[in-house]
Amino acid sequence: TLEKEFNDRYHEDQQIETEEYDFYNFTLPSDFHLGVSSAAYQYEGAWDEGGKGESIWDRYIHTYPEAIADGTNGDVAADFYHKYKEDIKRVKDLGLDTFRFSIAWPRIMPTGLIDSVNQEGIDFYDDVINEVIKNGISPMVTMYHWDLPQYLQDLGGWTNEIIVDYFEDYADVLYSYYGDRVKLWLTLNEPTKGVDGYGGNVTGLGYAPNVSAAGIGTYLAGHTMLKAHARAYHLYNDKYRAFQKGRISLALETFWYEPQDSNSESDHEAALQAIEFNLGWFANPIFSKEGDYPTVMKKRIAENSYQEGYLKSRLPQFSTEEVKYIRGTADFFGLNQYTTNRATFGENGPSPSYTRDTGVTLVAPSDWPASETSEWEKIVPKGLRKVLNYIKDRYGKKWEIVITENGFIDDGEIMDSQRIVYIATYMIEMWKAMYIDGVRVVGYMIWSLLDNMEWTSGYRSRSGLFHVDFYHPDKIRTPKKSTELVKTIAKTRRI
Ligand code: NOJ
Repeated sequence: TLEKEFNDRYHEDQQIETEEYDFYNFTLPSDFHLGVSSAAYQYEGAWDEGGKGESIWDRYIHTYPEAIADGTNGDVAADFYHKYKEDIKRVKDLGLDTFRFSIAWPRIMPTGLIDSVNQEGIDFYDDVINEVIKNGISPMVTMYHWDLPQYLQDLGGWTNEIIVDYFEDYADVLYSYYGDRVKLWLTLNEPTKGVDGYGGNVTGLGYAPNVSAAGIGTYLAGHTMLKAHARAYHLYNDKYRAFQKGRISLALETFWYEPQDSNSESDHEAALQAIEFNLGWFANPIFSKEGDYPTVMKKRIAENSYQEGYLKSRLPQFSTEEVKYIRGTADFFGLNQYTTNRATFGENGPSPSYTRDTGVTLVAPSDWPASETSEWEKIVPKGLRKVLNYIKDRYGKKWEIVITENGFIDDGEIMDSQRIVYIATYMIEMWKAMYIDGVRVVGYMIWSLLDNMEWTSGYRSRSGLFHVDFYHPDKIRTPKKSTELVKTIAKTRRI
């Protein structure tokens, strides 16, 4: 019955009537957070300046330059390290009220350990935060956006549970230095992708640190990340919340999944299974009433593991105590949402692998509109509304949602008409989720302010509201057409 309800609710093709656009006012509440997102490795550059330690991305790309589509790296990136003042001014000039950026752990603690605190790194982010506030903008700070100190990786990185203690020390330093001014924290960005380098890619060069522990490493790293997140959350509660009064969450990403064939019950189930595996992996332990990993995930991974000859499930188990410790460790729901796929049962991935565990094949239909640069990114605004409704129904209406990332990747054209359509239509679907469906969305951040280092795609994949000339020594920024849309929305607070 639940499944039937789910299908009726989410998978009927909701037609948008054009009259709706005259009928609704598409106004945003005055306290809504409207902003742009960024991340240290993708923006800062200065990879070995100011006492910064080496991160796993530095090491990985320097060792395997061929891992990056255009053979580039993040050594200089958009040079935000030297240009943050003018960039923060850009956020202000867009009329936005929130700037999301991440702190590079190895810049604050070169080895990742508390003994290595680097004053120059502390001062850098201190200046960034002050500059943000001086411009009337609220900082939203991500503690971990994938650039782990290499030293910790040499100790096993996220597969070594001692890192939970080290992450707590790191969080302690951040709260104590910046918590007087930072009121919005995200512990982790997209852990599903953050663990990918621990065995997610079995065929070649994927994400850093690119260790091959297929089928085990990713779940183990994810397990530790959940514990580290919870530890940082409890630390804030115990030591800082009473007087700093901030809010903490993490940014979880998910596609929306449509059934391959809308008349097939089994495809509907596959779509549901896909979201349980992807979003549920990290959302269930934190946001669901019962805590722990989704049942379907525990069941399938255990079954697959035994079949493959393992004596225990490749998915580690939480103790009852741990389930309780992790459950509820968030003050809002941070969501990165970009696109939608179709789902059907079937395995098309190497085994054992994540695809084999989900048992679901995902298809990005070729007739759905997409950018030519990022074929994976189909433009499906309704998918955002459906994910928002799913979160409300699955995890409860009590969770306020901040869309911590949504954005469009292209070649970097200045006349970025597809980005304009993308942002406007996704925001409209967000508005409908808020005002028609009653989902509590309290913020929307565009990925991204500037073109930046798009991980293994390098500088070919562009997502900025501002174009960056990466081939010019000054990394010149040029506003794209979409800045006009964003300015208008920010100014009128109307989509
Ligand atoms: C997710 C990540 O958080 C960010 O680092 C990345 O650049 C964007 N999505 C676009 O792929």
